[in-house]
Amino acid sequence: MTGSGSAEAPRVTIRRLVEVPEAERGFQPRRMTSPAELARRNAALLQLVAPALETIAAWAPAGARAGLRDRAEAALQGFDALHDRRPVADNRGGSGFNDSLWLTLLARAFAPRLVIESGTHKGHSAWLFRQACPDAEIHSFDISWDYLKHREADVSYHREDWSEADQKFSDTAESLVFFDDHMSHARRIEEAWARGFRLLLLDDNFPAHQLHATGGPPLPSLAMLLDPALRDGQELSWTRNGKAYSTVFREAEATRARGLVAAHLVLPELAPVTAQPPGSRLTVVKLVE
Ligand SMILES: C[S@@+](CC[C@H](N)C(=O)[O-])C[C@H]1O[C@@H](n2cnc3c(N)ncnc32)[C@H](O)[C@@H]1O
Repeated sequence: MTGSGSAEAPRVTIRRLVEVPEAERGFQPRRMTSPAELARRNAALLQLVAPALETIAAWAPAGARAGLRDRAEAALQGFDALHDRRPVADNRGGSGFNDSLWLTLLARAFAPRLVIESGTHKGHSAWLFRQACPDAEIHSFDISWDYLKHREADVSYHREDWSEADQKFSDTAESLVFFDDHMSHARRIEEAWARGFRLLLLDDNFPAHQLHATGGPPLPSLAMLLDPALRDGQELSWTRNGKAYSTVFREAEATRARGLVAAHLVLPELAPVTAQPPGSRLTVVKLVE
């Protein structure tokens, strides 16, 4: 018999791992830890990401094409243990579980010799890149270090916009550039191409009907640049957290940047399998030669 008066053993045993401050509850990642269930989840994730890996393998630096899928799979298998070791436990405002998984998987798969990121924030994604690419040269740019919580000893941190930096970059052919700074994707595409970079990762690539999804979205996003329905001078407006926002789409800017994009892929959302909060429409972009 079951019921409030029953003396049955509790069905769930609970063991406290860390003391979570009240303000951070709900932001602490939660995950399955049963090995058999993780293996089933990873098998489902592999199925989900396999078509994307096949597409982007052709865009990888020549030296990274062999073994790309195996490296991606290894990154996936080891990801939970890696994520548990992250130095920035509460990465609100930055990459969560799903985006961190994609960043790790792509960085391992592309095996770049040079990684540039714009948008350091608390330092979480630079840490991920260092774990995924132990031998790469890594530069992380942000205009503010107010939120910076973790620095890796051998990552170069720059407090400036990457377009204003004196830094000369070598090895642009074997590089990966990650833009997670909420700046115009049109601008970042033009800047990256002019500096010789051809493989980009753009975060927050939300289309015109989803601009409310993140604070200060990149305007225009790549999705907007490629949207044939948007007209020059069209106004877009949205609300978020009690404020009203609007922007005007400019076709001239879109045309210039659009012409530099050879191919792109919006990475599939992992949330249906991981049951973690949705990612930020991370997008891989191959620029024209
Ligand atoms: C979404 S956060 C980056 C999150 C981080 N990449 C992660 O995954 O944890 C965006 C960051 O971009 C920075 N930012 C804003 N404008 C920038 C600019 N012009 N250049 C570089 N970073 C900028 C902000 O200061 C903020 O720290």
